Amino acid sequence: MANDPDQIARIEASLSENLSPTRFKHILGVREVAVRLAKRHGIDAARAELAALLHDCAKERPDDELLALAKRHGLAVDEYEQQTPGLLHGKVAPFVAAEQFGVDDETVFDAMRCHSTGKAQMGPLDQLLFVADFCEPNRPYTAAQEVRELAERDLEAAVLEVMQFKLRKTVLKKRPVHPDSIHAYNALLDKRTHETL
Ligand SMILES: [Fe+2]
Ligand SMILES: [Fe+2]
Repeated sequence: MANDPDQIARIEASLSENLSPTRFKHILGVREVAVRLAKRHGIDAARAELAALLHDCAKERPDDELLALAKRHGLAVDEYEQQTPGLLHGKVAPFVAAEQFGVDDETVFDAMRCHSTGKAQMGPLDQLLFVADFCEPNRPYTAAQEVRELAERDLEAAVLEVMQFKLRKTVLKKRPVHPDSIHAYNALLDKRTHETL
């Protein structure tokens, strides 16, 4: 089903007012790629649009606010998130989306929750947002372009490519890797290995 244009306009207006211009531009880029990939791969484009528009709605909240949001909604915060509350921006985004925009779609929420780390069992919308977030046209790195092309042909291969890129980057920066990212990577690698056997 198509999204309500008024709701979309309300979300766009709020994001453009409350986020930095760069973030807003990124979000519009993610929407563009997400909707295109959704149509290409037979995934619900309305859900892809909503998930893309809302995935970073809490990204610019200060650390204490992210932690407070998680606490208020009874979300368990692990040691990594405690140390780097920015990691929570995807997991708390559904609370903001529900409260401010009346969104009520668990499939959309799931994709928003795991958009930066991934998770062990990723559905089509989870995969789509994970990839679109990485390869939208405003991303400066050359890997984004490669992933964009790969995602047109094979969404899951693109997910794996993004996971490998992100893991390498985190390790090179000597930063801890969130367990969700490791579980996501191992699960996908395992799935693809078994598929080719
Ligand atoms: Fe994000
Ligand atoms: Fe993002």
